[in-house]
Amino acid sequence: AEISLDRHEAAPGVGQLDTILPRIAEEVSGLTGQGRVADYIPALARVPAERFALSVNPLHSEPVHVGDHDTTFSIQSISKVFTLTLALQRFEGDLWARIGREPSGDPFNSLVQLEHEEGIPRNPFINAGAIVVADLLLTCLEDPLHELVTMVSKLAGSKIVVDGEVALSEAETGYRNRSLAHLMKGFGNITHDPQDVLDVYFAQCSLAMTSDQLARALGYLANDGVDPASGERVLEVSQARRVNALMLTCGTYDAAGEFAFRVGIPCKSGVGGGVVGIVPHHLTACAWSPGLDATGNSVKGRAALEHLVTETGLSVF
Ligand code: DON
Repeated sequence: AEISLDRHEAAPGVGQLDTILPRIAEEVSGLTGQGRVADYIPALARVPAERFALSVNPLHSEPVHVGDHDTTFSIQSISKVFTLTLALQRFEGDLWARIGREPSGDPFNSLVQLEHEEGIPRNPFINAGAIVVADLLLTCLEDPLHELVTMVSKLAGSKIVVDGEVALSEAETGYRNRSLAHLMKGFGNITHDPQDVLDVYFAQCSLAMTSDQLARALGYLANDGVDPASGERVLEVSQARRVNALMLTCGTYDAAGEFAFRVGIPCKSGVGGGVVGIVPHHLTACAWSPGLDATGNSVKGRAALEHLVTETGLSVF
């Protein structure tokens, strides 16, 4: 049945999540075998491809989940949402003088635009942009990683840790990220030792979280910047809106248009197979399945979020 939604009403489908989620799990199981687990970071390649989880954290009702919702996975680029949040909170200079806010239309680890654009990354969610964010955090915080882990643990409601094996694997194989950091250093857009910046970046990508924890931790983006669990303000209202806008336009890299077209909510993905979605004023969701498409986005993850918005009638449009 067609559902039309008033922004101020509870979404009709949200009350039916208990039956919608198992149905989604069943539907996406048909996609097993379609994606490829990321293997350019060797520690990620060991995760079984058939894993799947979907966690939904509605603002006004209890969390719901299906599948491997309490298995931790490497959050990878989803960490870029948390580091941007921390930089918006704590960096006092003009962050947007150092990082753009346009989609790149290129793969997440591309170097090409930097050369023509004076070392200013297109946005904070491609690798180059997140590396500049890590540099900003080193400017304003004594121990950025500690502050990040503390913030994320508080938002997730449980202690979150860096997976040391993944971090090491990233450091050993991160040639493109080193290139990005050094190229930007050459342009003057990295102010610290590139190695120190990359240490923060590799560690943030290696945070291990469950889909339940991620769905809960990002509640502030659905709730005008206030963490729904604690009632504490994480970002100003306008900052939360802007993070959502960047997720919609840049959160899934060169697939952002396809995500907006098919899913129609702000999303952020990671090569660990996680993808989070925000429906402002309604809910946050996190899907996880390690099989990726050619743009580095989880095949089942995107399909699960597409089913979720279709079946609940939720959208930002
Ligand atoms: O730097 C990298 O390549 C990885 N640590 C993170 C990339 C990533 O998750 C892109 N997401 N789809």
